[in-house]
Formats: sequence, C-alpha cells, structure tokens
Amino acid sequence: MSKDLYVQNHYNKIAKNYGLRSDSTLRDPFIREVEVDFIVANIFEFVAKNGYFPKVLDAGCGNGYTLSCLREAFPEMPLVGFEYNRELLKLAKSRNLANCKLFEHDIRLPFKEGDFDIIITERVIVNLHSRKQQLSAFKNIFGALNKTGWYILIESFQASMDELNILIQENSQERIYPSQHNFYLKLGVWHKMLKLGFKQIEAPLEENFLSTYFVLTRVFHPMLHSKGEKRINSRLVKFFTQGLAPATGDFSPIKLQVFQVEK
Ligand SMILES: C[S@@+](CC[C@H](N)C(=O)[O-])C[C@H]1O[C@@H](n2cnc3c(N)ncnc32)[C@H](O)[C@@H]1O
Repeated sequence: MSKDLYVQNHYNKIAKNYGLRSDSTLRDPFIREVEVDFIVANIFEFVAKNGYFPKVLDAGCGNGYTLSCLREAFPEMPLVGFEYNRELLKLAKSRNLANCKLFEHDIRLPFKEGDFDIIITERVIVNLHSRKQQLSAFKNIFGALNKTGWYILIESFQASMDELNILIQENSQERIYPSQHNFYLKLGVWHKMLKLGFKQIEAPLEENFLSTYFVLTRVFHPMLHSKGEKRINSRLVKFFTQGLAPATGDFSPIKLQVFQVEK
C-alpha cells in the first residue's frame, strides 16, 4: 500500500471513530490545549501589532476542532480551512461555523486563494512522506501568505525524538517511534524555509514548551510503573507538569514556531 493511501485510510478511520471529538487527531488533551492556546495567543499578538483581525487559514483542518475554538475566541475573524480527507471535511462542514469557508484541497498543490494573514499547520506537514513534498507544502504556504503574513508551525521533528529516545534508553526503556502515518521533519528544513523567505519570529511560548511534559509522560511515568506504559493524564504527571519549568531540554518532537514572511 502506498504511504498516501495509508495516511488517507488512517484518517478515514479517525473520522469514523472519533467524529467531531476534540481528541480526533491527538489523544493527549494537555498537548491539544497547549496547541490551541499557542494559536490563540499568536492571533492576539498579531492583532496587537497590526490593529486588525487577521484572515486565518487552517491548512489540513481535520474535523474543524481548532477552527471551532478560534470561532469561539474571535467571533468576527474571517476563517478558512481546507482538508484533503473527504470524511473529515464533511465533519468540519457539519459544524456550520459562521464566517468560515471550508473546501477540499491537498497542501502539496498551490492554493488558489491567497492573501492570508496567518496560516496554521497543526501536525500536517508530517503526514507528507517525502522531503520534496514537505518542501512543496512550505512553498505553497509561502505563496498564499500576504506580504508580511505569519505562518504558525506546529509540527514534529526527528532530532528531538532522537533526544527523547536517548533519555528513554538511558533509563532502560524501549525506544518509541513516530506513528506510521507520520514522517517527522529534519532540522535542516529551517535553512530551506529561510531560503524561501520565512523568518522565525519570537512567539508567546518557547518552541520547546512541551519538552518537560514529554519527559514526564514518556520517561518518568513509565519508570514508576512495572508495565512501563505512558500515561498522559495521571495525577502525578499533572502535579509535576504544573510544578516544573515547562521548556527544559529538547525532548518534545512537537515544536511550536512562528515565521513571518518577507516578500
Ligand atoms: C494531525 S491532523 C490535524 C487536524 C486539525 N488541524 C486538528 O487539529 O484537528 C492533520 C490533518 O492534515 C490532513 N492532511 C494530511 N495530509 C494532507 C494533505 N496533503 N493536504 C491536506 N490535508 C492533509 C489530515 O487529513 C488531517 O486532517
């Protein structure tokens, strides 16, 4: 089976089994909340700097959960979402979000509509299974942003996954791997993005904000339990997540970054 078909089948199952649920594409409510808070905080920053509400595109919008959170936080802001999985797109449309245009599109192809102030990808580029396709997606995002638009990137990187695995193995646990529908980004992609004209800007959270949380859930918690299973919502993990500095080390594959384009 081609990787493309594998990814589509994966999301067909997600659409069928999870419907409109917030944990549709991510089972971890803490990470989900951090991602949405990060996007919302960036939009507030954009408004403070520019004096108007941005036109926002959620590229690969899934069942529309993030768009629904944005609709709630910013009732007047123009929203757009696209999705290439028809079942997820149907779910997103069923929300009937006001002032939110939704359509079918593949991020690997240039977008017809341009002039976005902000484009978001939330674990979408990692669904593309070659470096060439990942780069095309970045080119298309660049092309669809207005002259000083922002790109909010929430994607996973292999180098941080490797760091996490070093820690895991140091503590005699078994390596973990990305799910099969994901192909984590290489750090080198930053240089390619810079060449395209993206410039990383300061964001409301550090890019490694989830690092401590990944250590707690993937290393610390399993060490305490004989079966070694990860637990995302145990009281112990919550206690330490609140008590420890969040952005310690480089152990979160998921990075939170913001880029501004220069055209
Ligand atoms: C991890 S999910 C995130 C969805 C949504 N942003 C959310 O938070 O629920 C990634 C989404 O990207 C979509 N996707 C994957 N490859 C795509 C492509 N080539 N073009 C458009 N969407 C794609 C998937 O179908 C999936 O809905």
